[in-house]
Amino acid sequence: MGPVPQHIAIVMDGNGRWATKRFLPRVAGHKQGVDALRRCAKACAARGVAVLTVFAFSSENWSRPSEEVSGLMELVVMALARELPQLMGDGVRLYFVGERSGLSDKVNASLNLAEQTTASNTGLVFNVCFNYGGRWDIAQAAAKLAAQGQAITPLSLDLALALAHVRDPDLLIRTGGEKRLSNFLLWQAAYSELYFSDKLWPDFDEAELDRSIAAFNERERRFGKTSEQLAIGGAPLA
Ligand code: IPE
Ligand code: IPE
Ligand code: MG
Repeated sequence: MGPVPQHIAIVMDGNGRWATKRFLPRVAGHKQGVDALRRCAKACAARGVAVLTVFAFSSENWSRPSEEVSGLMELVVMALARELPQLMGDGVRLYFVGERSGLSDKVNASLNLAEQTTASNTGLVFNVCFNYGGRWDIAQAAAKLAAQGQAITPLSLDLALALAHVRDPDLLIRTGGEKRLSNFLLWQAAYSELYFSDKLWPDFDEAELDRSIAAFNERERRFGKTSEQLAIGGAPLA
């Protein structure tokens, strides 16, 4: 296998269908999704991936049935309490990316605790996009710059976005068979390689991760240049 992508981003889709197929409530699919995420983060770290960014709850997911929304809020609090010791053992640094003001005090307290506890870890950088939308991110970045009287340029926006602490994703995976972004990383995915998997997220395993990395390695990233220019050499713009 070729070099691993340094930053992998994932739209973890298909939990609801996974549960419905088994006549289970949708929240059971989300619970299974946490297990898939734990395995995936471990597999990414083992392969030398530096940054993993996952979409866990979108700005639009508030429109779901209230029991599913509250189930997801409870799940994030429970999962963090349970997983934190192992995340510490693995040296994972957690960031929660999204609009915090929309979340309850209880959820915010648990996200803050996880961020603070892992703040000096130096292993995998693990961004969990929660109450996140790409449009929200671009708008909040522009509003921040405007409030500071700063010019709005691609570079200044880049630095004001919620993922300013990492470089753009090299590989963006979406599971669950849909081929759309659903408001994920609209700005940062400008030059990401896209991989669509038919596997439902709870079924996403190391073999499928390796297939996505193998597909990534077959792509030629040109960043607007020609193949001939790349053959001559010189680092691509990234
Ligand atoms: C993705 O799985 C997880 C969240 C959006 C929280 P879904 O819940 O969207 O699963 P499907 O698409 O209904 O199968
Ligand atoms: C995207 O999945 C959001 C997350 C995975 C958190 P959705 O299931 O909400 O996307 P749509 O509604 O099918 O576009
Ligand atoms: Mg879905």
